[in-house]
Amino acid sequence: MRYFPVYLDLDGREVLIVGGGEKALQKLRLLTKTNARLRVVAEEIGDDIVSLARERAVALEWHRFKPSDLADVVMVFVAQDDADNDAEIAAAAKARGIPLNVVDGPGQSTFIMPAIVDRDPVVVAIGTEGSAPILAREIKSKIEAWLPANFGSVASRAMTLRRRVQEVLSDPVARRRIWERLLQGRWRAAVLASDNEGAKREFEKQLDAARSQSHLVGSVALIGCGPGDPDLLTLKAQQRLQEADVLVVDRLVNQAILEYARRDAVRIDAGKEPEGPSAAQEDINQILVREALKGQRVARLKGGDAFIFGRAAEEAAAVRAAGVPVEVIPGITAAHACAASVGLPLTLRRKVRQFAIVTGASADGAFDLDWVAMAKEGQAFAIYMGVRSAPRFCNELLAAGARPETPVVIVENGTLADERAVAAQLSELPAAIAVKGIKGPAIIFVGLDWAAAGLTRPDKLEVYEPPHAEGRIRNGAEAAPVTQG
Ligand SMILES: C[S@@+](CC[C@H](N)C(=O)[O-])C[C@H]1O[C@@H](n2cnc3c(N)ncnc32)[C@H](O)[C@@H]1O
Repeated sequence: MRYFPVYLDLDGREVLIVGGGEKALQKLRLLTKTNARLRVVAEEIGDDIVSLARERAVALEWHRFKPSDLADVVMVFVAQDDADNDAEIAAAAKARGIPLNVVDGPGQSTFIMPAIVDRDPVVVAIGTEGSAPILAREIKSKIEAWLPANFGSVASRAMTLRRRVQEVLSDPVARRRIWERLLQGRWRAAVLASDNEGAKREFEKQLDAARSQSHLVGSVALIGCGPGDPDLLTLKAQQRLQEADVLVVDRLVNQAILEYARRDAVRIDAGKEPEGPSAAQEDINQILVREALKGQRVARLKGGDAFIFGRAAEEAAAVRAAGVPVEVIPGITAAHACAASVGLPLTLRRKVRQFAIVTGASADGAFDLDWVAMAKEGQAFAIYMGVRSAPRFCNELLAAGARPETPVVIVENGTLADERAVAAQLSELPAAIAVKGIKGPAIIFVGLDWAAAGLTRPDKLEVYEPPHAEGRIRNGAEAAPVTQG
């Protein structure tokens, strides 16, 4: 972000516009929405500016710009077609540290103007740092269509009630809650419908209810945030993220997803390494309970789906045991997202009738999986957390009778910019992981293939080709070649 968006208070302060033509008129129209003291300086000034100046008490001066014009100025717009004079003004403004905008001259400017949606006092500014104004215009028209014309009245009315709420409710969390209820519920609808009596009644009702609530208990939302791509968040996850006062964030949650949260929400990093110490889980449970008992809305952000290898059950149980309401928001699990990303169907009519998900992580070293069942023809499954234990899977499955050429597909960092997909055969799985440098997070699909579904492999797929020479890598170590077929 090269340009930092801010809102400047221009109340009673002097803004200079240099230029008397159409460009200057456009800037002047915009600036007359503020309470700034406006001054226009130009050798020639158009009639439209003169009549607008009369209506809005704008000072007009008919002369060429001179540096002394900047005496009390807090902001300058240069809107004329006089390159030499532009450069002189730019130098003078920069020397005095006065913010400067040269219309159509971003190189000379020290600030640029955003596209604006004006629902005063709600003002939305949209910028692309000058890279693609058309995009800004598109966003602006979408927001214009979405915000009712009198939307600003909601904010203005809220402003008049702020002190009353502050006097009645001393607890900041209680204040935030009542504003959420007012601004998202019936009070806002009544204000937008110009139903003054209805708005007053609803305000008093909400205030009474908030006053009589002696102790606020918060809540915990266990949110599945999907595999990484923020566009795969559910709408409900987005809503809960926006409402949250506290975010408790897992290691695999893409930081980009935090953009959906409020900027003032407290962030607690609960990152756990795979197979990390179980004590950390206790700590996380305690954090969730502690924050919710303070009345906070806690969003527990987990990668994929919270109920799939996410230890969400333990967290939900701990939160419930403390008498705090808990809600689980499903997310797109890694297997689904990775399969979709490489176009690999997880079930196939008549061919793949069941699909399982299994974990390759085992804190106690015990893998009590039904290897014989998994090794049968037509079985399909996804291994989570299986990069390190891939040799074990390979050995057990082959020993239980799986065909060595059973297709495997490894998808690393699925849905993220650095996603990789590698296809191999079961007997080559450890070698493929070692040679292709797969570190994870990755999903290993076993028993699924594009050909069986009548599909072609995606172009981005890397195919592991075993070296035909002796001593090929097997199970992560140098070993004899595996017999195919
Ligand atoms: C602790 S589990 C959490 C699973 C998560 N709850 C879910 O539903 O996807 C972590 C494992 O999920 C898989 N995983 C998570 N994100 C992934 C991604 N973007 N690409 C591939 N695998 C991923 C990996 O197998 C990783 O080791």
